[in-house]
Amino acid sequence: MKQNLHILLLGSGGREAAMAWKMLQSPRTEQLFVAPGNAGTAEHNVDLDPMDFDAVEEFVKANGIDLIVVGPEQPLVAGIADRFADTGVKVIGPGARGAMLEGSKEFAKEFMFSHAIPTARFMTVTRDTIEEGYQFLESLNPPYVLKADGLAAGKGVIILDSKGDAKDTLAEMLEGMFGESSATVVIEEYLSGIECSVFVATDGEYYRILPVAKDYKRIGEGESGPNTGGMGAVSPVPFADEAFMEKVERRIVVPTLEGLKSEEIPYSGFIFIGLMNVDGEPMVIEYNVRMGDPETEVVMPRLKSDLVDLLEGIADKTLALKKIEIDPRASATVMCVSGGYPGSYEKGKPISGLDEAEAEGCILFHAGTRSLGEGTAVTSGGRVIACSAYGDNIVEAVDKALDGASKIDFDGKYFRHDIGFEFRS
Ligand code: AMP
Ligand code: GLY
Repeated sequence: MKQNLHILLLGSGGREAAMAWKMLQSPRTEQLFVAPGNAGTAEHNVDLDPMDFDAVEEFVKANGIDLIVVGPEQPLVAGIADRFADTGVKVIGPGARGAMLEGSKEFAKEFMFSHAIPTARFMTVTRDTIEEGYQFLESLNPPYVLKADGLAAGKGVIILDSKGDAKDTLAEMLEGMFGESSATVVIEEYLSGIECSVFVATDGEYYRILPVAKDYKRIGEGESGPNTGGMGAVSPVPFADEAFMEKVERRIVVPTLEGLKSEEIPYSGFIFIGLMNVDGEPMVIEYNVRMGDPETEVVMPRLKSDLVDLLEGIADKTLALKKIEIDPRASATVMCVSGGYPGSYEKGKPISGLDEAEAEGCILFHAGTRSLGEGTAVTSGGRVIACSAYGDNIVEAVDKALDGASKIDFDGKYFRHDIGFEFRS
């Protein structure tokens, strides 16, 4: 790939803001466009819908784009990488077949089963096989895990304590609770443990493991209340030590890449492995075919080496030649969200206090924000701004991120004060 690149980054969240921040530190980024972006990336934004592939293609041609970096999963599942195959324009992210690791829970579970990758026992059920589903539920201990097969904006997993409720919910899901996404449902054994997120960059042959992170999904402190996109994250994760990561690499990362190769699924991009640590043994909860949000807001700050160089390695199949360097400091991010999120919330609230938060030493990654020009931003989503910080350890990083988050102000602002609570003792 040439030295100076024109890069198009698709997406508009905190994840994309963090990737943009890191790409802009690279001398190799000659031009960066973010589609559609947010107020934090305002100078780079282009008004393009990442799902409108014709418009994306036109923009790519008109602006001499060399590299497309896909933030969210939807364009990957819909085949954006296939669209640009053989055009000379490189895409970070798998084609539609590889993206099924995230786009279909059934596909992902069958894949893990075929390649002996540790994961929860499961059964796939459709309307025609609901009776077998009921029988499988009889064989499990509570709680019961039901997953819509297809993409459901992070809402397709339901965990129930009673068998009766699980049976009723299974029937409702199959009747269309999540539309077509839940016409097929995966029933899973419940895994008990602490979760973490492992990010693998791969060119299909070689791989590099990025810093491990942990996100906090529930809206309320102490992991209470409904699920959100993620309320904060920390990196590293104390229990993911060398011995644990060696198991992850040997039992999960290598067999996953070997499995893709043996099924002749070309894959260049990121694989995000959601893991449960079950008594020291890593088990896969899910695959995603992109980076995590808000994990990226703690992973990018810890990546010392050049992100664009790493992306080149992924795109050109030269990852074996790339070294990645990790900052030994810890990092944390605290997400400031709109009042009412993850339910309904108002938009358009003016945001202030950003300079004060930065003066605390925080790095701010905009998520659901919109620019009104002249440096003013208003809220435009549930997750508004991720406030990230470094520390000598997780507690210091979280405390600094909290100081920053408390300086940010907009009507209805809420954030969790207990990010990283398990590591506080
Ligand atoms: P997923 O969309 O597959 O990540 O599931 C959402 C969340 O549900 C996960 O982050 C876990 O917290 C939880 N979960 C999913 N599968 C299981 C399982 N087999 N056992 C326990 N918790 C699970
Ligand atoms: N933080 C979880 C996700 O990005 O799916």
